[in-house]
Order: sequence, then structure tokens, then C-alpha cells
Amino acid sequence: MTREKNAQAGLIVLGIESSCDETAVGVVRVRQVADRPRGEILANVVASQTELHAPFGGVVPEIAARAHAERLEPVTREALEAAGISLDEVDLVAVTAGPGLIGGVLSGVMFAKGLAAATGKPLVGVNHLAGHALTVRLVSGTPFPYLLLLVSGGHCQFLAVRGPRDFLRLGGTIDDAPGEAFDKVARLIGLSQPGGPHVEKAARWGDAARFDFPRPLLDRADANLSFSGLKTAVLRARDRLVAEKGGLTRQDQADLAASFQAAVRDVLTGKTRRALALFEERIGRPPACLAVAGGVAANETLRAGLEGVATKAQIPFDAPPLALCTDNGAMIAWAGAEWYLDGRRDDAALAARPRWPLDETSPALLGAGRKGAKA
Ligand code: KG4
Ligand code: ZN
Repeated sequence: MTREKNAQAGLIVLGIESSCDETAVGVVRVRQVADRPRGEILANVVASQTELHAPFGGVVPEIAARAHAERLEPVTREALEAAGISLDEVDLVAVTAGPGLIGGVLSGVMFAKGLAAATGKPLVGVNHLAGHALTVRLVSGTPFPYLLLLVSGGHCQFLAVRGPRDFLRLGGTIDDAPGEAFDKVARLIGLSQPGGPHVEKAARWGDAARFDFPRPLLDRADANLSFSGLKTAVLRARDRLVAEKGGLTRQDQADLAASFQAAVRDVLTGKTRRALALFEERIGRPPACLAVAGGVAANETLRAGLEGVATKAQIPFDAPPLALCTDNGAMIAWAGAEWYLDGRRDDAALAARPRWPLDETSPALLGAGRKGAKA
């Protein structure tokens, strides 16, 4: 691939994602515009395994790995067809090499290695969390450095994103991830999975002031968070109601959902203010934007709260559309392109890494990200 081709036709990247329960393949064309990469999504096919795991109440790693192995090839064909290109026209193969469930990550890595070897295309193994973290640049082209709040089923952290492979963790959860808490609360109050969207829907007609749930760690100056106490408080409130009247009414359900959601919003917005201050302190300037990523970023109440924080701090707020917040192949293609343009190259020795923190210099937070299967 010559510099000239790169500049005109752009770099066509195939991105493969199989770290949890979505087999996803995206095709992204990346062009340099005014010295900055800009992306255009040509295809983004996601084959969800939700129905395979539903009978078990959670993701079963063996079932996931087998389904990925079976679906990677058809999903890749579908993505190429949707993009209207042949495998020959792909310039770079990018694949999630971790973190995630080892069986799924291995399936993707082996498949990507096979594709790269058979076609002679370069290969880049990317960090799944970098995929989430860099998505805002695919959507809006925001420059570095920016502040990212990554909130998903398995993760919750504030990152100063200084470059494609340069992340500084400013804080994170010391126990559960918010998505996990949404899922747990949904189970507690009798709503379906995945919990987040159902809790949000029920909360719409609930009274957020009825239950005074805790806002853990807001009394501390750092940007660390905790959600397990909040979950327990919801459990106690539910048990009290059940003991009093033998069950929950629809209104109880809605009020519990709304009060819980308000507590999560307050904790995340309060800690975002701290993270903004920490960013300026550590990076020496305000962030180019406040970005949010991960499945929980779909929550309207949270988005509105974060937008308020950004507006007050006079910083742009950047939240990708929902389909790019949850796991997908386009984000891996984009991150692969950013890493490739930054000099990263992999080969047949590329290894799957079930644990792979974005900021390898900061010490791990106790219990953080150890519970959710997803990232
Ligand atoms: O990013 P994601 O699809 O998977 C990973 O964790 O990587 O996030 C899934 C999580 C689930 O816990 C789900 O309940 C939560 O995101 N979620 C939401 C909403 N939509 C999805 N949480 C709150 N409000 C929502 N609207
Ligand atoms: Zn993810």
C-alpha cells in the first residue's frame, strides 16, 4: 500500500470482535484529512448470542466460544458484502486480542491470523477497551487529549485519552460496574434482562425522590466509584416492601427504578466533576471534550446529567450513537487503524490476553472489572 493510495482511497480496515457474546465484524474506510484520520463506516454487522445464553441467566463461556467459532466466517462474509468490497480490497485486519472471555478472544485472534496469513494483509491486535475509548474519534473526529467515562456491564473508569495507545486512568470503580448494578437491580425488582433499558423504561413514571439511596464515595475527593452498597440498599428497600405488603406494585417497581437510576446518575456526574479537575491537574490543560462510551452510556438520564456537567465546564460533550456504544466491529476496525497509523504491527505470534488494562502503569483497583463478562 503506497502513501498515494492511502491518501486517495483511504485505508480499508476489517475489524473483528468476539470478546463476549457478540460476534461482530465491521468495515471502516479511514482517510487522512488535514493530518487527522477520519473514518467512514462501510458495514457493521453484529450477531448477538443473547438467545443462546438466555436460558442460563448469564453468558456461558463455552457456548460463547463455540458460537463465535461458527459465526466468524459467515458474519465476515456478510460484512464484506454489505460494504460492497472483496477481501482483496481490505488493507488491514484488526481483531480484539483482549480483554474478554479467553475462548471468544482466541476464536477471533485465530480467525484473524488465518485471514491475514492467507491474504498477506497486515494484522493488528487491539485492546477492546481502546475500541470503546477511541469510538468518539470515529464519530466526531475529536482531537486528543479528552476525558472518557467508560461505563459498561463490566467496566467503569475515567481515562485521560492522550493518544491512540496512551491512556491514563484517573479513577474507576472499586467493586461493581454500573451496568452490572442495573442488571442486578432489574432482577431484584422483577424486570427482564438486560436490566439497563428495562430499569430506564420503568423509571420514566417513577418517583426518584421516594427512596433515599446512598451516593457512595461522593464524600471523597478522588474519582473512584462504588456501586455495590447501592445495590444492597435497593435489595433492603425491596425486602421491606415485600415484608409489608407481600409483593411489589408497578408503582413500587417504578419508584425503586427511578430512585436507583437517580443515585447512579448523581454518583457518575459528581465523580465526572472530580475527574475533570484531576484531568487538568495531571494533563495540564482542559480536555478537548467529555466523552462517554459503553452500554450504560445509552441511558438518557445519565447522558443529560453528563451533558450538564460538560456545559457547565464549557467543554463539548460527545456521546456516540447507541449502536456504537455497545460492542461492535466498527470500533475495533477504527482502533486498529489508529494503532496501525501509530506504528503497531502484529504477526502470527499475536496472543489473546483475557486481562489487559488500558493503563498498564496505574495499579489495579480492588475488584474492579473482575465480575462482568463483558467489557
Ligand atoms: O457495553 P455493553 O453492551 O457490554 C459491555 O459491557 O461491554 O453494556 C452492556 C450493559 C448492560 O449491563 C446493560 O444493562 C447496560 O449496558 N445498559 C444500560 C442501558 N442500555 C444498556 N444501562 C442503563 N441504561 C440503559 N439504557
Ligand atoms: Zn465492550
